[in-house]
Amino acid sequence: MNIDVFTLFPEWFGWFSSQRHVSNVLAGGSSLACVNLREHTPLSGGQVDDTPFGGGAGMVLRVDVLDSALRGHYGLDPVELRGQRRVIALAPGGRLLDDALVDELAAEPALTLLCGRYEGFDERILDHLASDVVSIGRYVLSGGELAAMVICDAVLRKLPGALGHADSAAEESFSAALEGQPEYPHYTRPAEYRGWKVPDVLLSGHHERIEHWRRERSRERAGGAGSQPEGR
Ligand code: ADE
Repeated sequence: MNIDVFTLFPEWFGWFSSQRHVSNVLAGGSSLACVNLREHTPLSGGQVDDTPFGGGAGMVLRVDVLDSALRGHYGLDPVELRGQRRVIALAPGGRLLDDALVDELAAEPALTLLCGRYEGFDERILDHLASDVVSIGRYVLSGGELAAMVICDAVLRKLPGALGHADSAAEESFSAALEGQPEYPHYTRPAEYRGWKVPDVLLSGHHERIEHWRRERSRERAGGAGSQPEGR
């Protein structure tokens, strides 16, 4: 997997790339690179955004700046580029990220993530330069960087070598192994704490019963019950 992030804040990704599960995947041949939009702008003074036509608050990321950054980096007209690799603009109104979309993205050989700032993108970026618009939730962040990291995290942890244990990603919440349902509850030592006991079945050593119990709890959670901690 080769991920390029177009951002005004490439330094944010230094910390992220150094996290164990990310660096594991990067050591295995994947890449996560940042392209600083300010270094590619054709405008003077590193300008990348402008006030919205028609008035209103905030600044809008310019289409000519993104066009030039993508063209400069890939040496290709971005309109053609988006037919060759997923070029994903991060915006609150986009397609909501879920496990199915993460799987879809994890199967791609390469991704380009575009981070907007302030009021977001000139709409022509979404219409002509991006192949997808993705949202990590119906709320507004100050920019796309955290959303890009969420996508990178969710996608990279699906790749071989990211997690210590080969099965960790296979049987987790919303995976096919759990029929798209939330994961069952986990417990560890101590077996009893302040009178709060671990369910007996998990201490029984009886694998079939444990498996059955886990599937049941997973289904129960999918029904909405039992997913809230007590007292909420
Ligand atoms: N940029 C700002 N808010 C966002 C969100 N919720 N998802 C993706 N990108 C964003």
